[in-house]
This record gives sequence, C-alpha cells and structure tokens, in this order.
Amino acid sequence: MLKICNIVIVGGEGDLAFRKLYPALYSLHKENLLADCTKVFGFGRGKFTPEDFLAHMREWTESSDYVKEVDDESWAGFCERVIHFVGDATSPEDLRRLQGDMGAEEIVFYLSTPPSIFAPICRAMGEAGVVSDTTRLVVEKPLGSSLESFDEINDTLFETFDENQIYRIDHYLGKETVQNLLALRFSNIFFEPLWNRNYIDHVQITVAESVGAGGRWSYYNESGALRDMVQNHLLQLVCLVAMEFPARNKADDIRDEKLKIIRCLKPIDGSNVQGLTVRGQYSEGYIGQEIVPGYEQEQDAEGKSNTETFVAIKAEIENNRWQGVPFYLRTGKRMSNRYSEIVIQFKPVIFKFIDMDPNALQNNQLVIRLQPNEGIEMKMMNKVPGLSESTRLQQVGLNLSFEEAFDDHRSPSAYERLLLDVTRGDQTLFMRSDELRGAWKWVDGMINGWDLTKQAAKSYRAGSTGPDDALGLLIKDGRKWQDFSA
Ligand code: BG6
Repeated sequence: MLKICNIVIVGGEGDLAFRKLYPALYSLHKENLLADCTKVFGFGRGKFTPEDFLAHMREWTESSDYVKEVDDESWAGFCERVIHFVGDATSPEDLRRLQGDMGAEEIVFYLSTPPSIFAPICRAMGEAGVVSDTTRLVVEKPLGSSLESFDEINDTLFETFDENQIYRIDHYLGKETVQNLLALRFSNIFFEPLWNRNYIDHVQITVAESVGAGGRWSYYNESGALRDMVQNHLLQLVCLVAMEFPARNKADDIRDEKLKIIRCLKPIDGSNVQGLTVRGQYSEGYIGQEIVPGYEQEQDAEGKSNTETFVAIKAEIENNRWQGVPFYLRTGKRMSNRYSEIVIQFKPVIFKFIDMDPNALQNNQLVIRLQPNEGIEMKMMNKVPGLSESTRLQQVGLNLSFEEAFDDHRSPSAYERLLLDVTRGDQTLFMRSDELRGAWKWVDGMINGWDLTKQAAKSYRAGSTGPDDALGLLIKDGRKWQDFSA
C-alpha cells in the first residue's frame, strides 16, 4: 500500500529543488510509486509565476541524467500533483494557509533552504500547529561546521521534532552503488571470512571530482573538502565497508553499527595531524583540453585563502576487526576526472610455489567502482597459458559492470530512493544525530590540529591527482594509491 502523504518542499523555487527534487519526484510519479492523493507543494517566495514555475520544472526534469524521457501524458499527471505555493515559511499564518490546502494526514517537510533559517521555520511550524506525530522533516547538509554548531542546529530541530521524525540527508547513501556495499558484503559468503585484519592489508577510498568550487566559492571557502566531503560522504563509506553485521535489517540496527565504527576512529589532533593528513588547493591547470582557473582565481573568489580543496587522510579504526589496517581517504576538486572507488587491498599469499616467479605475484584486490562505470572488479593471479617450464603468472580482473549485468534496469537517482524512503517512513539511509555528532567530533580534532600546527594547503595543478605529499602519505608506509589518471 502506498502511503498518502503530502510533500512540502520549502525552498521550492531553489536550485536543489529544480535540479534534483522535482526530477526525482517526477520519476517516482511515472513509476507509480506515489499514492494517487499525494501532492507536492513547491513552497517559495513567489520568484516565479505559476506558468514559469512549471516550465522551469519541466526544463530541469528533461535535462536530468536520471529521467530517460518526459512524456506529455505522465507530465500532465505529475503537474496535477504539484502546487506552486507562494508564502513565507517562517510565518505561522502562511503555514496555516498551507495546511488548509492539504487533505492527507501525513506531511513531509523538506527543508531545501540554508540551515540558518531551519530554526525560524521549525518554530513557525510548531506555532502554526502543522506538526503532528506523523509529520516528517527532511534536512540537507551542511548541518553545522563543527560539533558545537551541529548541536545548535539539532537543538532547534528538537524543539519541534523527535529524532524519529528527522531525516538527515547524505545523498551518497541514496546512491545505488553505495547501497550495494552492504548487499555485496553480507550476501556473498566468501567475503566475510576474509574481511578483517588477517587478510586485508589496507583500504583506499577515493572520491575525486573534476569540477571546481567556482559558483559557490564563499560557501566552500568556509567549509573546505574535509567538512564538505569527508565528514559526511567519505565517513559513511568507511562505515559501510567496516561495520559489523547488524542485529536485524532495521534502520536503528544498521545505524548502531555505523556509529560503533565512528566511535572507534583513532583521534587525529595536533599531536599527529601532520603525519596523517595532507591538505591541498588547486592552482590553474587543464581538465582535458580546457584551461581552468586556480581556486583563488575563480570568478566569485574573494581573495587569498588557505581552504583545502583536496584532503588525504590515513584513518585507523581501533577495533578487533580492523586494528592495524589503514583506511586511506582522499577527495578533491579539479582532479583529472570524476572518479569514486573503494579499493580493498588484500595481503600477499603466505606460501609461494617454488617454480613461480615471486616477483610477478601481486596481491588480490577488490575494486568497487562507485562512479562512473559502476561495477566491481576482483583482481586475481592467473597462470599465463603456455608451455614454458616455469609457471608464468599475471594479474587479471574479474570484471562486473553493473550497466552490462543489469541492462534492463534503470538506475534511480539518489534523491528518488531517499524521497521514496521518507514517504515510507524508513530512516535506514538517513543519518542519526549521534552518528553525525561522532563524525563532527573526529573532524573537529583534525581542524583544531591544522590550526595548531598551521598546516598549509599545498598547491596542486588542476587536472592532476592532488599534491605530491598525498603520494608521500602512502609511500612512507610502503604503499601506493591506485592509479586513476588513466
Ligand atoms: C556535495 C558537496 O555534498 O557532494 C559537493 O557539497 C560535491 O561539493 C557533491 O560536489 C558531490 O556529489 P556527487 O553525487 O556528484 O558525487
């Protein structure tokens, strides 16, 4: 049974709403995943006329990578659901007027607004009496810039909502390939016995982007790669790779296990930050054939900055399964290409056949490609066919491309998954406040460490794989990053 609930997008005339939310809702509508009575309220200040609003919505929906085709019939049906509601979301009176236009009992409020106005909006909702036990609230990052500011935001949400009503988005959790991590680990028998410090040498997680920070420079400059990407997306990936089997397949059981990993992260602070982290900032360079400006020369740049657009971290999880297995994380803007993957590097085999060339032996590797070309590759040693006296070895990959394996399936966008789960009341793919508090605590340690040690962001050329020091982070451990420049 599809749940009837109204979805109110506050900030409904904003960028995120047009680029991601309406296209995702259209896809859900087209796939008959929204109940007939479900209405979508695009709550905005009246920047658009109703006609322009719909035209804009269609334009963005047509250009979405995830919407294969917008056909007139289903679009007309979708438009019947959508109501362009003009008002001020901090005004209880306007919220009451909104409620008057709604029929169903359940409401999802999606705050697609800057967090600075979460508090007045939530207070106005409370005052207007539009919040009941079944009301849900969806909030987007950035949820704070430190543990302290996260707590402040959270406390204002808690004045009106309970934890089980709050859906904190990390869009990485909505990605198909990220959800597949748990399916892969827990539905294949051969991973579990090997998934520990006895067999795994280290793990690498790379999230590289070729885009720069231009266009949102002032936000980014306050944030930097550590807060913007590591605190949320990369740490969530670490959790999914490292967590134990949950007691049950329920939201809180899964989130309990993720929290345990966050709690086991070895603190990084002024005493060890310089040896365990590398900060970088891009300078002018080429992305493909195109010359792109350096971070401080972006059009909307506001001058000199020590903000990192790249960060590499050697993280360690201090528990029985992972003690001594480094998790190397790196993420950056203006890297040579858009590329996200997780590499599980196994240890070498213990016993080597005498007639094999020991130098040809390479460790097994499991590569999980998150984007683009989503898939999984298991790199294994094989005998090269032939009659030579000694056994010749070569590493080859067992390669599974999701696109080829599931060519009759459409891969939904992260926002489709997440919006659908909110309407179903499933919090599994949303972050609980204790997870985020733990993540902020870990990140705060590093930021304080950088301040204390005055660790500068090293320059790296746009279109490269980051600053040289990032290579050094692994070289000094006798390891190397997986190549991604090809
Ligand atoms: C966002 C960050 O959360 O994720 C952006 O704020 C980043 O800076 C984006 O570009 C990356 O998301 P994706 O889905 O393109 O990998």
